[in-house]
Parts: sequence; C-alpha cells; structure tokens
Amino acid sequence: MNCLLTKGTWSQVSADWLVIAITDPVVWTPPLKQLDHVLGGVLARLETSGELPTKLGATLALRGLTGLGATRVLLVGAGSQKTGRPADLDRAFTAAIRAISDKPHLRVAALVAPKAANGLEPLAVIRSAAFGAQVGSQGQDLYKTERNRHPLAELQIVLPEVPTDAEQAALDEGVILGEAVNLTRELVNRPPAEITPVAFAARAEQVAKTHGLSCEIWDQTRLMQERMRSMLAVSQGSTQPPRMVKLEYKGAGDTAPVIALVGKGVTFDSGGLSLKPSDGMLTMKCDMAGSATVLGAMTAIARLKLPVNVTALMGLVENMPSGSAFKLGDILTARNGVTIEVLNTDAEGRLVLADVLSYAVDLKVSKIVDLATLTGACVVALGEDVVGAMSNQQDWCDAVLSAAQSAGENVWQLPMFDLYDELIQGDVGDIKNTGGRWGGAITAAKFLQRFVGNTPWVHLDIAGPAFASSNKPYREAGATGVFVKSLVELVRAQQLPAE
Ligand code: BES
Ligand code: MN
Ligand code: ZN
Repeated sequence: MNCLLTKGTWSQVSADWLVIAITDPVVWTPPLKQLDHVLGGVLARLETSGELPTKLGATLALRGLTGLGATRVLLVGAGSQKTGRPADLDRAFTAAIRAISDKPHLRVAALVAPKAANGLEPLAVIRSAAFGAQVGSQGQDLYKTERNRHPLAELQIVLPEVPTDAEQAALDEGVILGEAVNLTRELVNRPPAEITPVAFAARAEQVAKTHGLSCEIWDQTRLMQERMRSMLAVSQGSTQPPRMVKLEYKGAGDTAPVIALVGKGVTFDSGGLSLKPSDGMLTMKCDMAGSATVLGAMTAIARLKLPVNVTALMGLVENMPSGSAFKLGDILTARNGVTIEVLNTDAEGRLVLADVLSYAVDLKVSKIVDLATLTGACVVALGEDVVGAMSNQQDWCDAVLSAAQSAGENVWQLPMFDLYDELIQGDVGDIKNTGGRWGGAITAAKFLQRFVGNTPWVHLDIAGPAFASSNKPYREAGATGVFVKSLVELVRAQQLPAE
C-alpha cells in the first residue's frame, strides 16, 4: 500500500474516496465549508436533520458526486474532542477504511485541515489515517476465495502546505504501528495447523532479519539443556516440537537497562488431558496471542528506532492430549527449581511462562512485562474488551497503565493481596498449577510471581480482548492486535532523559 503526503487542493485530488473526519459538535472548517458549497449545501442540511455522522466510528457515504476530484466522499465521526482521547482518531479512521475496503485497488484521499480551524491535531490525523488504512483494510478472511477486505492501492493525505518532516514522521509512524498490529492479527488469525511452534519461530526469524533484530531460537534439545522442564511438560503430548524465540533490540548503549517482553505462545490449546469441551476449544488458535503481540511490538520498536534496549522472549508449544501427554498429579521442576503439582493440564500457559520468566530473570533484565491469553476468569472479571494487569511493583504497573492510556487501550489492575498466595500452596510440591474456583485470574498471576524474583514485573492477561467475538465499526471480529500500541508507548516512555 502506497501511503503519501501531498500538498494540494483536496477538492481536486483524484481518488476513489475522499475521507473526512467530523468532530462532535461539527466545526465548520474552511475546507468543510468549501465542500458543502461544492455539494450544494448537503452537509449543512445533514447537520440540521441530525444525520451528519459525528459519533466516533459512525460513517456516511455520499456517492455519485460531481465537482470534486473524487466521486465519493466518506464522512466519519471522530467523536467529541473534549472527552475524546487521541487514539479515538485511530478508531475513526479504521472504521472509515473498514467501511469502504470491500473493493480492491482503492485510491483513498484523506483531508487534513489546519489545527486552528477544527481542533483536530493535524499530526494526529495523519498518523491515524495511515494507521486506519492498514488495520481497516485487513480482515480475518485470509482464506476466503472472495475476500471481504482488500488493501488500498493508495492512501494520499492532502495538506495545504508542503509536507514537513514532522508530518512525514507521523505518516511513517501510523504505517509502522498499523503494520505491527496487522502482523499480530495475521499470526493469531491463521489456523493452528499452519502456525505451529516451529512455523511461528521461523516467521519470527524472518521478521527479525527484515527489521535488524538479533534472533536466537531454542529447539527441544536446547530447552532440555536449559532445564525448561515445566514448558516441555506442556509440549510433550504434542507431535509438534516446542521452540523458544529470543529477539534482541539494542536501541541504547550496552550498559542501559533492558526491558523484557515475554509472550505466551500456545499455538493450540486443546486443554491436554483436561480436555476442553468443543465450544471452549474452538478459538484456541488464539492462545499464542501473547507471543504474537510481543513480535508485532518488536517490529514497531525497531522500525521507530526507539532509544531503549528490549529483549523479547516467546514460549512456543502446542498443548495436546496423547499417550505421551503430561498428567494430572505430575510434579514438574521449573528452571528456577520450584516444583509444580499439576492439577489441571489446561492451566498450561503459566507452566510455559514459568520457565520463560525464570530465564528473563537470569538475563538480569531490569523490568518484565508478560502478555498471555491466560485465564477465562479474567474475561469473567473484566469482560471481553479489557486487559487485566497484575504486578509486583506499583511504579512499573503505573508505567504500563499510563502507556495504555496514551495508546487508547483498556486495561484494569487487579489486586495481588498476600491472601491469594495460600490458594496455590502445593501439597506434594511447592505450588499447584490451579488455585480453585475463585479469583482465577489473580491466582494465575500469583503462580507467575514465583518465577520473576524481585524484578519489577507486570502480567497482562489478554484472554478477553486478544480475540474478538463480534464486529464493531472500528475492528473486525477475530484477532485484534490489542496492546501492540501500548507496548510501543511503554518502551518509548522508558527512554532515558538526555544528559
Ligand atoms: N488459554 C486458556 C485461557 C483462555 C480462555 C484464553 C478463554 C482465551 C479465551 C487457558 O490456558 C486456560 O485454559 N485456562 C483455564 C485455567 C483453569 C484450568 C485454571 C481457564 O481459564 O479455564
Ligand atoms: Mn488452557
Ligand atoms: Zn491456554
């Protein structure tokens, strides 16, 4: 997709669609007034009749127009600029592109008015238009003979003046973030027969090469040598061999602190011998979303050249029942020596993360964030659209929460009171891999905490928002790429102040 900035008169720009964001209340900027004039006052009449789309993500298409370079105009609601967050504009443009990208080869132009004119920050409009052009034109229908969504041929952003470096950077950033989110979505949406641990690792290696990240892949033998026996136990029922992927990005000096991003990568979660019912298993290709999110974010971090050191660790296994599967009652010894009593083979994500987190601690990273589709309990607690955050250190947790706030993603912290610890005390081993019926998201986090030592750590349970069950104007059902943008914001916020 060709994304570019041009100086020009928007009314003359040749395109299949001209996209215009409308605020609530409508601000009649000079270009909007001019458009209304060219269209014979239809916009003003729509405003009077209350039919102008101002609500965030609402769209209205005007077709068969004359007098413009484009024969179609798409009006998209940007919501209230008072209560709105900057990231709302991402949603507005994603909704706009979703509404029109059912046709292939579209040339789309987007209008940017000077800030003084309409309150929409021009750089934010540019960034969001570029982001929306990527995310809104990629669907989950990757295997349909007739696709519902098609990448645009071109996105042209029309500016009143010669584009500045800042405007070009905003465009690039929108494209980079959009492509990162799409990479995550694509990996999660692809079927489990295709995205096996080996295939995921190969893809990560290829992505690493493209973006100049160093990449190390551990196979089963190496994982055994590294004493990752908890992770290997999950893998042992599957014919698909496990992998761990480590990507390193060095944006700062060798002595600068390293942030570790750790992802759960269960490429299919059948539940193992504690087999899931069909309904619950149906979407379990999404159980590698944590790893896919980490991979997506790493591409953006590298392409944006953020001046921070980041190491990504992805624990990749398939959880299957078979004659060689791990069993209920098994005792596993994790990399850090903690012994784990297996009460349920479907609580496998924490077993994978246990070893990968221990390894992150051994690397002496300064801070850890892990992302995992870890528990149904988190979805019960917070619903399908909110990420659960649990942490051992409030400052680091606050940094994650505020990064999500600037990225416009929904996250809510859950408590980590000591009283939850006893729920996972083991009888035969140190800890049990389930904590019983209540507080399941938190007892899972309490389990993980046993593997992070004193390293500041935030666990993000993305079981709800990683994979959407329904369409919304601004997002397609299926993989969402949730938290890619927040991770990029988090890393960006960690850059050390210049001396
Ligand atoms: N991958 C699932 C969690 C999940 C549920 C992800 C729904 C996405 C949507 C996880 O491995 C799991 O099965 N968790 C169990 C834990 C239980 C056995 C303690 C669960 O939530 O039921
Ligand atoms: Mn499971
Ligand atoms: Zn799982």
